[in-house]
Amino acid sequence: MQTGTITGQIDKIKTEALVFFIFEKTKFIPEINIIDKKLNGAVSRIFDKKYFKGEEKEIHLIDTHEKVKADKIIIVGLGKNEKFRTETLRRAIFSVINYAKNHSLKDITFILNNLNPETLEDVGTVSTLIEYNFSHYKTQDRAKIKKIEKINFYLPDEKKISNFKNSLSRAEIIGKAVNWSRDLINHPSNHITPKMLAKYAKTIQNGIKTKILGKKEMGKLNMGLVLGVAKGSDEEPQLIVMDYKPRKYKDTLVLVGKGLTFDSGGISLKTAEKMEEMKMDMAGAGAVMGIMKVVSEIKPNLRIIGVIPATENLPSGKAIKPGDILTSMSGKTVEVINTDAEGRLVLGDALHYAQKYKPTAIIDLATLTGSCVHTLGNEAAGLLGNEQKLIDKIKKSAEITGERVWQLPLWDEYREQIKGELADINNVGEGRQAGTITAAAFLENFTGNCPWAHLDIAGTAILSKPKYYHSKGATGYGIRLIINLIENWEK
Ligand code: BES
Ligand code: MN
Ligand code: ZN
Repeated sequence: MQTGTITGQIDKIKTEALVFFIFEKTKFIPEINIIDKKLNGAVSRIFDKKYFKGEEKEIHLIDTHEKVKADKIIIVGLGKNEKFRTETLRRAIFSVINYAKNHSLKDITFILNNLNPETLEDVGTVSTLIEYNFSHYKTQDRAKIKKIEKINFYLPDEKKISNFKNSLSRAEIIGKAVNWSRDLINHPSNHITPKMLAKYAKTIQNGIKTKILGKKEMGKLNMGLVLGVAKGSDEEPQLIVMDYKPRKYKDTLVLVGKGLTFDSGGISLKTAEKMEEMKMDMAGAGAVMGIMKVVSEIKPNLRIIGVIPATENLPSGKAIKPGDILTSMSGKTVEVINTDAEGRLVLGDALHYAQKYKPTAIIDLATLTGSCVHTLGNEAAGLLGNEQKLIDKIKKSAEITGERVWQLPLWDEYREQIKGELADINNVGEGRQAGTITAAAFLENFTGNCPWAHLDIAGTAILSKPKYYHSKGATGYGIRLIINLIENWEK
């Protein structure tokens, strides 16, 4: 699918369908009035006859009978004006693209009210996200999928076109990176091992230096937590470090992504139900790699480093066992009460490692707790950290991109819950209370005094069924959010 811009007189636009978005009980925008007149009132008639009210999810098709250059008019409802949020528009775009596909349309043109470059970047990205489906391992019925070939965005003001063209090319970069990352996350664990993940990281070049530390190098650094988790697996663990360093920069941002290419739970084995979804326990890593891919193309003036501890978590005669005590790279000791709380272990070493870059801020993304899925469902990531200013910035980007976050508290009482008896810290709290928070409280031990925010993406990164412009499986959550944060970093 291609996206592009179109200007000129609305009735002269050559496209298969002009798509209008309409609120309930509002006046037509000038562009519809022009079309309505040319069609002898065919558009207003469907309102008068109440065939269409403008409710959310309503779609109506009108044939133009060659009275204008476009073959058809599609009108899409946006619901009540006062309930509108950008997400409403994203979902409407999703619905109309599907509708157009089902009607075998190949070239459609969106007429968006108040289109500004920022909105265009956002809706352009979503149009690319809709294209996605994971059919990599299907040997049959792959070709049958109907596709839109061209989506045009109509610009009433020709003078501003270069700004808009920029937004659209950014949208394409971001959308493609999200789809690339979704693939990476969706691939099963026999195809994406830690070494394969490292290989994919190396494919991002263009101004990014990537180094890979193996078992030996991590041993030298005393990364006892990563190596502990990796012990049960035959696959060698990898620490992937991707460094984007512009010529001139002030701030350094480190992004840490959980890279469990499979999480069986280890000796504290998970139950079979939905265990296959744990091939996606590297969604944090996938997001970080997707972000680095975008960064390599948009080249912000901020140093950005991606750190990914990658391993499997499997039971075997060599695996760590409940009660084992590990020594982390930071020197702190951890009693492993539950081997299924492995994400915080590998992140502990990665967060400590991150400090050698003297970062302005560290953000980690991790499918860390089932508890977060219980609390927030698929609607928002859990957000915790040690600096409100950083958290507020992330909240703002979440608002703009629709990749929602919800802050949870990190009070001393929660820190108490993971204090160790035999070692410095336990890897789980007593009982299962406040699981998302105690996990963050664990991570905090390894952040030094650096401003840090943690995103628990267990619910937002993985879907058990499709949801609007996300297909089942990996959503690529976090890329649009953090890219927006980077774009607005100094504001
Ligand atoms: N990767 C899981 C968390 C998870 C669960 C992600 C469901 C996505 C969907 C994590 O490693 C884990 O197993 N966490 C445990 C922690 C517990 C043992 C304290 C959990 O949430 O059950
Ligand atoms: Mn686990
Ligand atoms: Zn896990």
